[in-house]
Amino acid sequence: MSEIVVSGIRPTGKLHLGNYFGAVINFLKLQEAHDSFFFIADYHSLTTHPTPEDLHGSVYRVFAEYLALGLDPDKCTLYLQSDLPETAELYMFLNMNAYKGELERVTSFKEKARSQPDNVNAGLLTYPVLMAADILIHKGSRVPVGKDQEQHLEMARTFSNRFNRLYHTEYFPEPQAFTFGKNLVKVPGLSGQGKMSKSAGEADCIYLDDAPEVLNKKIMRAVSDSGPSEPGAAKSQPVQNLFDLMALVSNDDTISFFETQHQSGTIRYGDMKKQLAADMELFVAPLRDKIRSTIENREQVAKAAKHGAEKARESADKTMKEVREIIGFRKFY
Ligand code: TYM
Repeated sequence: MSEIVVSGIRPTGKLHLGNYFGAVINFLKLQEAHDSFFFIADYHSLTTHPTPEDLHGSVYRVFAEYLALGLDPDKCTLYLQSDLPETAELYMFLNMNAYKGELERVTSFKEKARSQPDNVNAGLLTYPVLMAADILIHKGSRVPVGKDQEQHLEMARTFSNRFNRLYHTEYFPEPQAFTFGKNLVKVPGLSGQGKMSKSAGEADCIYLDDAPEVLNKKIMRAVSDSGPSEPGAAKSQPVQNLFDLMALVSNDDTISFFETQHQSGTIRYGDMKKQLAADMELFVAPLRDKIRSTIENREQVAKAAKHGAEKARESADKTMKEVREIIGFRKFY
């Protein structure tokens, strides 16, 4: 039997290379063979308190980008999380069995609590519960995500199992993180540190519609070492990041050329970045064109969003009727 696939992306402005290789590339394959639900996680984005204009603009934009990248409303269900208020209801039910201690131990929560001590809101704490609701509202079992979401998926399994145990049922599946490769993907950013992420700053991210000169400038300014290391020395983190980015967009000959140069201690990082910028431009150019033209086509975007909302609600409505019944909310009037 084909599995039910569910995944989401927060609307934080635009999609970057990490979103593409961590998530979207798998969505494109999965929509061909499975019952797939892909959504814009606009409820989730409220933890950062966007203005109404910013929220709306980002949601529209990311939805249009999904379409431009090839998600097909006839093959998958493409929708906005906020078009399914049923998700908020399931989130509330799951929250009744989610505990403060376990939520406080989630790495992403601890990081946010550290980096934004003035805004440690309840939505941030219960973020993994809302994610579990997103998945379980369609009884999703397969969740294409990048490596950074692994722990959230573990929590989704915890909440699913807990619900089943509490009500002596096998109603919800155990959602598993999924990628077509061997390992979940982590695309590094340009700042020489961890994963590519908007919260690490604009200069950390390669956006799929970055103009050629912007792309070139960002890559040429990417953090690397000041000069070649000793022959045979291990790569520093920033240098490893450049090689990881190259592995995504350059051909094998190019990669082994620079690997050999690194090994022999003769590499010039300026040359490597120039090559990476050229290969990245070849990769991004067709996506950029498609994104820009889709964003202009408001009619196509609106039609797809309406169609997606209708399909998604059918599935959510069915789940919530059954969930209310299981919990004991049964009509006697
Ligand atoms: P978000 O919006 O941060 O990222 C969306 C998807 O992109 C992947 N990703 C990356 N993959 C590899 N390398 C990177 N540098 C990188 N940056 C982002 C993420 O792993 C993710 O797959 N909580 C989620 C959104 C969400 C969700 C869900 C996902 C809400 N509900 C239910 C799955 C199922 C998030 O913030 O992803």
